Amino acid sequence: MNEGTSSTGRSSAADGTPIDPPASFVARANVTDGSLRDAFAERWPECWDRAADFLDWTSPYDRVLDAANGYDWFAGGTLNASYNCVDRHVEAGRKSHAALKWEGCLGETRTYTYHDLYREVNALAAALRARGVEAGDVVTTYMPVLPELPVTMLACARLGAVHSVVFAGYSADALAMRLADTGSTCLLTCDGYYRRGTAHDLKRKADNACLDVPQSVDRLIVDRLDDDRTYGDNYVEYATLVDEYGGETVDPVPREATDPLFVIYTSGTTGRPKAVRHTTGGYLAQVAWTSHAVLDLEPGDTHLCSADVGWITGHSYVVYGPLALGATTVLYEGTPDYPERDHLWGIVERNAVDVFYTAPSVIRAFMKWGAEYPERHDLSSLRLLGTVGEPVDETTWRWYYDHIANGECPIVDTWWQTETGGILVSTLPGVDPMRPGAAGPPLPGVSADVLGPRGTSVDAGEAGSLVLTRPCPGMAVGLGESTGEAPADWRYVTGDAAAVGADGYIRLLGREGNALNVAGRRLGTREIEAAIVGVEGIAEAAVVGVEGPQRDTALYAYVTPQRDAGPVSPLRERVREAVAAAIGGFAAPDVVVFTPDLPKTRSGKVLRRHLRRIADGEAVSDTGSLRNPEIVGELESIVDSVS
Ligand code: WT7
Repeated sequence: MNEGTSSTGRSSAADGTPIDPPASFVARANVTDGSLRDAFAERWPECWDRAADFLDWTSPYDRVLDAANGYDWFAGGTLNASYNCVDRHVEAGRKSHAALKWEGCLGETRTYTYHDLYREVNALAAALRARGVEAGDVVTTYMPVLPELPVTMLACARLGAVHSVVFAGYSADALAMRLADTGSTCLLTCDGYYRRGTAHDLKRKADNACLDVPQSVDRLIVDRLDDDRTYGDNYVEYATLVDEYGGETVDPVPREATDPLFVIYTSGTTGRPKAVRHTTGGYLAQVAWTSHAVLDLEPGDTHLCSADVGWITGHSYVVYGPLALGATTVLYEGTPDYPERDHLWGIVERNAVDVFYTAPSVIRAFMKWGAEYPERHDLSSLRLLGTVGEPVDETTWRWYYDHIANGECPIVDTWWQTETGGILVSTLPGVDPMRPGAAGPPLPGVSADVLGPRGTSVDAGEAGSLVLTRPCPGMAVGLGESTGEAPADWRYVTGDAAAVGADGYIRLLGREGNALNVAGRRLGTREIEAAIVGVEGIAEAAVVGVEGPQRDTALYAYVTPQRDAGPVSPLRERVREAVAAAIGGFAAPDVVVFTPDLPKTRSGKVLRRHLRRIADGEAVSDTGSLRNPEIVGELESIVDSVS
């Protein structure tokens, strides 16, 4: 064992000392072969057959990678994702094993065995088929984390329909935009959901969204709240349909590996969210492989990923990855601190969770609340911990390692994006030492580089732009650009700043450009600005993210009212409401700063870099390029008084 870990299992390494994975973990890890990166590199792209081998194919693929036709993975192969996540585990004699365990906000629990999952997915698929859903159609869901959500995703996959899961925290407008954009004519939603024990209406938002789209939408509704509300003629109850079609089976429709499995929206560089399309074969192979190699899951393991299913993390590592491997996935509705701040740790204990995967912002919240909450629970079932979504600062990493891992579980800091479908940068937990603060080297088969402003690689340790230099199977359709015919000419600019150490470990430094990650959720500052300037009385807005001491991000909105707008205090609430209406309450700015003007260059470009420094409380010295340098001092004193 490394000197960084003392005999009590508490870490005491000085900054920068790598920590070896605990020997007890290595002894039973899925991947312990230290030469795997080299082996993959020698056989690229054929090496990715290793990922495809985690799946059952209806017909084999012709080639691992076909670069002729825009980088098709496993072309010629056919498969069905629902078969891979459900049927084959039933056929392998695991029908009475738990596939899915759910803990509701009010303390309810539900368990679905693989057989239960098989029955309900089939019944819902039969119902959807009877309602006209066919292969290639887009089915939208709008619900919180309920078992019915993965069931719906898998029922769609069974029919070859493409799902579009919309996070329940999105507004009616955000749902309408997604419905209209995909032309989806089928929506599964629920009446409402509980948050901190209080019921919230969801159906009304779904109704409003449907009023706002050109197509007519067939609506199915899950009764979550169990009150006496009736839903009206526009809705059919999910439970009624599943009863009616109970016992029916639907043959899984074989899909081309390159056929879309789902579409998911994320913030891009413009004021509008962008659609990201993931394939059936490449995506599923990548998430199954990384669930095995990075999350170290095996059949029979219990996995808890705290992400909402509505985000890509939930798609890949709550639903598809664990279920493709035949593991048990734990879903929880609600928040980590309700009814108490030990809620998640109670879930870990009650379900004897083996692998726990969360976002650094969640760990930071736990750290703030104190170690007494995890200490109330027996966490000894945990074998591996993971983080995703934001950089983990060293203090947070240490706290996670000392108080949750008890020095006995490795931590994987996994870097990836909605666009990449699955994890691309991480240590292999049974192989690589951990370096708190750095995610790790690219996974086997993955190639990345850090480029400077001239487009050439920067020196070790220097900051630049993280670029992927080879395509991977899990990547979204059409990702990256090619300057030639060969895979070697392919590039994808990730939008992240990074530095790579002499050890090959990639340290993520935050987003470049105008996308932000707030509490593990990507937000586009342009989308938020577009919502703010839609408020009557507002002339201009610039939104920036400001990093706190532990690398958590706060959203600052600098807003210029129109001259005749009157008093600004009512505007503050309207700004937040407008963002909640356009996107969702979770995107509302933390701080709204009213200012008579924004710092601009002579050509009228807003200098967001200055706004970031001002919010940070740092001095802005380079005001030379500004047309209105006097605004800087004024803004500094305004920010001082509001934050
Ligand atoms: C962005 C992608 C991937 C699922 C969750 C977010 C940031 C992701 C890490 C990490 C530092 C990370 C990046 C990335 N990010 N993982 N381990 N360390 N930053 O998905 O909303 O598509 O956001 O999240 O900035 O580009 P997403």
